[in-house]
Amino acid sequence: MHGILSLTVVLVTLFAIQASGNEPAQVMTNVANREAYTQAVSPLSTEERQQFLQGRSLVRQSWIISPAMDNDIAGLGPLYNRNACIACHAKNGRGFAPNAPEESMRAMLVRLSLPGKTHTGAPVPHPAYGDQLQEFGAPGVKAEGRAHLHYEETEVTLDGGEAVRLRKPILEFSGLAYGPLPANIQTSARIAPAIHGMGLLEAIADDTLLALQAMPKPGKIKGRVNRVWSVEKQQQVIGRFGWKANVATVREQTASALAGDMGLSSHLFPHGNCAECQTGCRQAPVSGRPEIPATQLAQMEFYQLALAVPSPRRQDDPRVQRGAALFRQAQCAACHLPEIRTGEFPRLAALGNQAIAPYTDLLLHDMGPELADHRPDFAASGREWRTPPLWGIGLAKQVEPNAGFLHDGRARSILEAILWHGGEAQESRAMVQQMSPQERQWLLDFIESL
Ligand code: HEC
Ligand code: HEC
Repeated sequence: MHGILSLTVVLVTLFAIQASGNEPAQVMTNVANREAYTQAVSPLSTEERQQFLQGRSLVRQSWIISPAMDNDIAGLGPLYNRNACIACHAKNGRGFAPNAPEESMRAMLVRLSLPGKTHTGAPVPHPAYGDQLQEFGAPGVKAEGRAHLHYEETEVTLDGGEAVRLRKPILEFSGLAYGPLPANIQTSARIAPAIHGMGLLEAIADDTLLALQAMPKPGKIKGRVNRVWSVEKQQQVIGRFGWKANVATVREQTASALAGDMGLSSHLFPHGNCAECQTGCRQAPVSGRPEIPATQLAQMEFYQLALAVPSPRRQDDPRVQRGAALFRQAQCAACHLPEIRTGEFPRLAALGNQAIAPYTDLLLHDMGPELADHRPDFAASGREWRTPPLWGIGLAKQVEPNAGFLHDGRARSILEAILWHGGEAQESRAMVQQMSPQERQWLLDFIESL
């Protein structure tokens, strides 16, 4: 009796010490429902919690066109794709591609450029349409036009006889309001990725990525970092975010989404997204310069940095364990890295020095001609893509029932996504095709458990 009591006292004291200062960092969440990507890491100080909540309301905000009674939430457009971050990243989840040409792009966008590079190494924007097609315009400002996807279907037969239908998107434009696009226009249709765990990816040290790049890899697998222009630092840095690791930091990604996707200016992108010749766009009312003050940008950034990642589920299930072994055997783990350590991260200490399981190396890989967009993005070629993180992917359809896979959302399931792998991942794809139906199911069970 006495022993139990003193043990309790010791435990309570220990807990009190931890809670008062050294509470262990918790970067995963057990929430596995529609809110799986909206949870915060812990511990957060009272001030950090406050920033998280302010950032959350801005990321959820539906912005309105200026001039408006409520200036705080005005500034959308004059050219834009959607009116809120979560219009594309619903519940912080991934987007999807339209299923037919008459459906609009609700959670994706089309990047545009001309051949060559600007002095910063960026793709060359089209003089009128810029680097992204904006499908909507404020009253009096012509929307740029519409992008449509239709599909070419093929069928692959797997060992055991299962046939899987794959669809390859073909992009077309209509209603182009600022003149026709030239024949050499380069396009890249991209769905919104999920945005949980962004801070942990940013907390990986540059040196770690350079070491991963230098590490010998099996078979044909290579992998290299992208080098992109940082608008904030005014220098070349390693890229991490976007489907081609084409953006340096969460802050720059947020500022560029505010400008490019919603037409909201910030100190990083002071001119929004009107081209020189889009006079209607240039003359449209604005709600302030910049429309998003630096404090608000920092809050939106902090919110995303602090988003936790879902804990893997069913890890004791023997089927999931067999699938994990097959994931390594098929060399998936050579790109989708199951373990990385984060470095120091002063911006949010809880993220520093953590062993994480992102299932990405953040490196670019040649994925073959079928996935190529033929649009270089900084150092990334038209065939290279950044390995996307797989953590939380098993909950993708719980969070967004329409969720698509791969950069353009062509894959409707994880199996389809795997069957598109080519280039450096050609052998992995072949191994999955040759697995027995039972083994393939275990592999999918494992990915669904993440
Ligand atoms: C029109 C749809 C759309 C809207 C609106 C949108 N995004 Fe995105 N988001 C995307 C797409 C598409 C990408 C991938 C971009 C690329 O590859 O260049 C992306 C990428 C990101 C990424 C990088 C994710 C990763 O894994 O690399 C973050 C972070 C992000 N968006 C945050 C935001 C925030 C914050 C907002 C609101 C300010 C926002 N997005 C608005 C479509 C959208
Ligand atoms: C050479 C590196 C490489 C290897 C090996 C590899 N992948 Fe990938 N994986 C990628 C890249 C890069 C993409 C993104 C391609 C795109 O979007 O066009 C991707 C995409 C995916 C996706 C879709 C992710 C998303 O966010 O939409 C899944 C699922 C996936 N891989 C699973 C696997 C599995 C399972 C294996 C092993 C059978 C594997 N990968 C082997 C690099 C690789």
